[in-house]
Amino acid sequence: MGYNVAIDGPAGAGKSTIAKRVAKEKGYIYVDTGAMYRALAVYFLDKKINPENLDAIAAACEGAEVKIQYEQGEQQVYLNGENITSRLRNEEVGNMASKVSAVPEVRAHLLNLQKELARTQDVVMDGRDIGTCVLPEADVKIFLTASVETRALRRYKELEEKGVSCDLEEIKKDIKERDERDCTRKIAPLRQAEDAVLIDSSDMTIEEVVKAITDNIV
Ligand code: C5P
Repeated sequence: MGYNVAIDGPAGAGKSTIAKRVAKEKGYIYVDTGAMYRALAVYFLDKKINPENLDAIAAACEGAEVKIQYEQGEQQVYLNGENITSRLRNEEVGNMASKVSAVPEVRAHLLNLQKELARTQDVVMDGRDIGTCVLPEADVKIFLTASVETRALRRYKELEEKGVSCDLEEIKKDIKERDERDCTRKIAPLRQAEDAVLIDSSDMTIEEVVKAITDNIV
């Protein structure tokens, strides 16, 4: 069994930035599970499957083979043999991922892949249900959150830097909707594991959050 650090929290809490830094500092592998949900979202979007049609989503999972590889330490996501990593981080894919992640077949389709990655190596894995469902025996569990305002502003700046024009109020609305969906779904909802350390990063720097986490790694 590898040493497992689970980081869960809502959209835009800074999980991936922080998890990457912690992984680098400790020499662990960073596993971004959101990217796996996004990969399935790309598959459903390409197939033009309506996310409201849950039966169609459930049935289509079988045709999507998601694989993870590491190239120069960066996680690369393969969908049916094709590297689709560059297609994962946009709002359309994120929204689709958020919708379809409530479908039990979608979650089941990715669970073994996630468990297997953590079984054999030291990982920092981020997501929504890592501490509660995927790695309930994780050595360290962190629940990383921040206020809606802070998260929206961070996403706004991130998009602006990429040259994508966006509207702060729209982003806020989007984040709230995503939180609502992630927290209220029946299967593997977003919630803090009982044994997780809560970190609210609203008024913390990246360095402070990284330290707060690595302090828990012994
Ligand atoms: O974290 P990220 O925004 O990339 O995740 C995309 C979507 O995938 C989230 O909105 C969430 O609904 C879903 N997800 C999940 N469980 C995880 C990781 C992501 O349900 N472990």
